[in-house]
Amino acid sequence: MCGIVGYSGDKMATDIILDSLIRLEYRGYDSVGVAIVNHDIVVYKEKGQVSQLRDLVPSIDGYTGIGHTRWATCGVPSSENAHPFKSMDGRIALVHNGIIENYLDLRKELSAQGYEFSSQTDTEVLVHLVHRYMDGDLHMALRRALQDVRGTYAIAAVEFGSDRIVVARKENPLVIGVGMGENFIASDVTAILEHTSDVIYVMDGETAVISPEEIHLFSPEGQEIKREVNRITWTSEDAKKEGFEHFMLKEIFEQPKTVRDTLVCYLDGLEASDILPPVSPSSVTIVACGTSYHAGMVGKYAIEELANIPVTVELGSEFRYSSGTDNKPLVILITQSGETADTLAACREARRRGCHTLAVTNVLGSTITREADSVIMTKAGPEISVAATKTYTAQLVSLYLIALKLALNRGAIDEMGLRELKAQLRSLPTLIERVLDRADSLQDAVEVMSRAQHAFFIGRNINFPSMLEGALKLKEISYIHAEGYAAGELKHGPLALLDPDTPLVAACLRDHTYEKMISNVTEVAARGSPVLIVASDGDEQVHLLTDHVIFVPRCPPLLSPVPLAVLLQLLAYHVAKAKGMPIDKPRNLAKSVTVE
Ligand code: AGP
Repeated sequence: MCGIVGYSGDKMATDIILDSLIRLEYRGYDSVGVAIVNHDIVVYKEKGQVSQLRDLVPSIDGYTGIGHTRWATCGVPSSENAHPFKSMDGRIALVHNGIIENYLDLRKELSAQGYEFSSQTDTEVLVHLVHRYMDGDLHMALRRALQDVRGTYAIAAVEFGSDRIVVARKENPLVIGVGMGENFIASDVTAILEHTSDVIYVMDGETAVISPEEIHLFSPEGQEIKREVNRITWTSEDAKKEGFEHFMLKEIFEQPKTVRDTLVCYLDGLEASDILPPVSPSSVTIVACGTSYHAGMVGKYAIEELANIPVTVELGSEFRYSSGTDNKPLVILITQSGETADTLAACREARRRGCHTLAVTNVLGSTITREADSVIMTKAGPEISVAATKTYTAQLVSLYLIALKLALNRGAIDEMGLRELKAQLRSLPTLIERVLDRADSLQDAVEVMSRAQHAFFIGRNINFPSMLEGALKLKEISYIHAEGYAAGELKHGPLALLDPDTPLVAACLRDHTYEKMISNVTEVAARGSPVLIVASDGDEQVHLLTDHVIFVPRCPPLLSPVPLAVLLQLLAYHVAKAKGMPIDKPRNLAKSVTVE
């Protein structure tokens, strides 16, 4: 997974490209490069992050260029494997996001024809292929080259002596930013919001030619097509840190607003809205990956409780192996980026099986918004930190709304129940504020967790997935090995791993699971493990079991995953900070995973 940008206009391209690349580093940050069209094509590329390359790049007199930030999939992170790649005659430079599946065959073929390779990447075959077909028209050469290619891509190429950027897209995001006397291309709108809010989405199979004054878009068959310009409502400020030390912290603190914004969008008109297909499904399947999968698990409990419809939750990468029965469920695909390859593959498979697909996503214009039958947009704004926070709680809210709508469609909720639940949902932003207000009370818990190399998180019922998510958050940014378990499962194996150096975090909220949770915690405390209890406000009894307690505001059990999520995000953040970790960009991880 990588980020690509391009600029052609009346300003010096280098700084614009480097600044835009910084905003794409969440997509990958192990190596970086730029190609600027000058009296030659000048390429600078380096292992490391954009800031490191910036120190090396001199001021280059050039108004057209492309850039790339890489997350290695094919070939180790190194300056040789960094993009852009130049053709052997130096006249073409190219960047690529995606995977060329048949690159080994192509490499062999091109080598036999005399092409020399300087990297281990799949991308380098592309630049040589384009060169092979170059007959004065870069766009035609790229289109022809792509006929030989099997795989996925967003590609941008420039040529010597021209101010045009040629792009192509298949299953990897690509937008064109529309300016005045200048145009842009990027993997994601956040990269170019500083310069323009007007974008054209490039769709699968399409190509485009961009110059300072013109944008020409072509269908997969090569016909020129017109596409409306979309105005983005996110601002460039939304994609900045605004005084917070890390994007993750800023995004955690934005949650009262993002939850409110998501609610406002759908709650009032829910009865009349058409967010769901008119036919009430007899079953629901939710498909997602990572944090979005945990949101889906919470959604299962909510839908089953409110609408009394059975729900299966599947991982995006496993959905294709499940049996396609005659029963055609409603398939809900949750993906904040809208670009996760496994979730997109599941969407296609669900449609092939004849299911109605409903996407829950945060990115307008993302691939899933075009492929699913219907879409619910979460209103979390751009999320830059690799660790998902505000998009997770916005997903939870969307799933409560879906559950409520399913309940309404089936007559499973009466007028009073509806009014009550709506009021409870409206109180969520205030509940989150109360969690954020007490961030300082986490100090003791942070000390306990920071000393650990391993940790367990347990919960029951709707907060079982909350604890899976708490463990995922901790492991991805603090590198502490953390596992989430259904509390009842602990005694079936994992208990063997608990010792005085391995803390247990337990959600013991005042709901119907409380007594069983207390029994599970007692078993662990008896084995000398440090126990950290997350308890409901006012529950002083838990102090009998442990010295380490963090309190969350009381709320209806169904909605408790929201404040609990915020608390566990803060815990993970402060532990990672205490350990001096690179919080926004954890090693080996990238924000959206566009490979299967
Ligand atoms: C969460 O912190 C992770 N970055 C990761 O698990 C993520 O949720 C997963 O890759 C799915 O992404 P998506 O929501 O964009 O599909």
